[in-house]
Amino acid sequence: MRRDNVTSLYLVFLFIMWGNCMTTEEIERYRLKTKAMFYHGYNSYLEHAYPYDELKPLSCSGQDTWGSYSLTLIDALDTLLILGNTSEFQRISLLLEETLEFDMDINVSVFETNIRVVGGLLSAHLLAPRGGVTVEEGWPCQGPLLRLAVDAAERLLPAFNTPTGMPYGTVNLRYGIPPSETPITCTAGCGTFIIEFGTITALTGDKRFINVAQGALEGLWNSRSKLGLVGNHIDVVSGKWTAQDAGIGAGVDSYFEYLLKGGILFSSPRLIDMFKEFYSKVQQYLKVSDWYVWVHMEKGQITMPIFQSLDAYWPGLQTLWGDIGPASRTLQKYHSVWRHFGFIPEFYQITSGEPYSGRAGYPLRPVQGI
Ligand SMILES: *[C@@H]1O[C@H](CO)[C@@H](O)[C@H](O)[C@H]1NC(C)=O
Ligand SMILES: *[C@@H]1O[C@H](CO)[C@@H](O)[C@H](O)[C@H]1NC(C)=O
Repeated sequence: MRRDNVTSLYLVFLFIMWGNCMTTEEIERYRLKTKAMFYHGYNSYLEHAYPYDELKPLSCSGQDTWGSYSLTLIDALDTLLILGNTSEFQRISLLLEETLEFDMDINVSVFETNIRVVGGLLSAHLLAPRGGVTVEEGWPCQGPLLRLAVDAAERLLPAFNTPTGMPYGTVNLRYGIPPSETPITCTAGCGTFIIEFGTITALTGDKRFINVAQGALEGLWNSRSKLGLVGNHIDVVSGKWTAQDAGIGAGVDSYFEYLLKGGILFSSPRLIDMFKEFYSKVQQYLKVSDWYVWVHMEKGQITMPIFQSLDAYWPGLQTLWGDIGPASRTLQKYHSVWRHFGFIPEFYQITSGEPYSGRAGYPLRPVQGI
């Protein structure tokens, strides 16, 4: 689900190759290629799609997708700085400060708005001095991009007002929960807030943010099965699972990622304990000869023997956890699929070695969400 799954796989792969056989020239070539790919997308967005959220790559026009706030610009902002483009970083920071407006009657995904808008603005805010921006007095606890991030995050808070503490999937930026909103949210949609919301609390002292994010994590934790697994979709009002497939990929992925990264970022033993427990259950029930499959969360039997492109973050997360040997073996499995097809299919059937049909709706995934 995360926009950078494939990038992470690529980076982990490059990292492993480094130790072995990549020459300085090769590293430089891939670095330039990565930059060129970014600017191809970024400049094309500016030329054909701005101020809409996203570029439609075939018709070369723009469209609003997850909101109506030039989402690609917010998404790209920190990347500009990582690529060393301080002048463009400054130009876009200023442009967003002057034009971004969240007081709108639109229904948005709570998850996507958090990871892309709130996360993107917070990263840019924290990186601003390195981007040559003259920061306000009181930075990092003050600043225009921080105020925008808090404004956006505040509009997501009504979603968390449920009996379980787990959020609705959609919120109207002006009016709160839309009247006919379904109470069914995917696991990642419940458990992917602690990094951004915890950062807002750390910077502003406003405890509401970390409290709702932690509450949602406790809600998921309390909902795990007797085997210690979580499913794919849950009713956030009744607390009943509506999709009981347990896996590491689509609909779940960033939940595990945020437990570990949140645990590290905030030195939280509670989050690390949750991650540790899930990690051992995932190894026990989901792992089949270095692949990870989907199983029934209550019974443990395999429901889908498939590898998903969105699983690609997993070896990176294992590496962060220090489980290097298994990470490298699983990465080799994933890379064998890449080598075979020239890219990874969205769903790949491990038993037959074929892509899973019926997933052609959006061939340029992994950009689309849940
Ligand atoms: C920064 O990005 C802008 C827009 O793509 C481009 O015109 C400019 O050349 C870039 N500058 C550097 C230093 O890469
Ligand atoms: C938001 O969703 C609700 C249904 O829950 C609908 O009635 C409303 O028109 C939607 N608002 C917009 C701006 O699309």
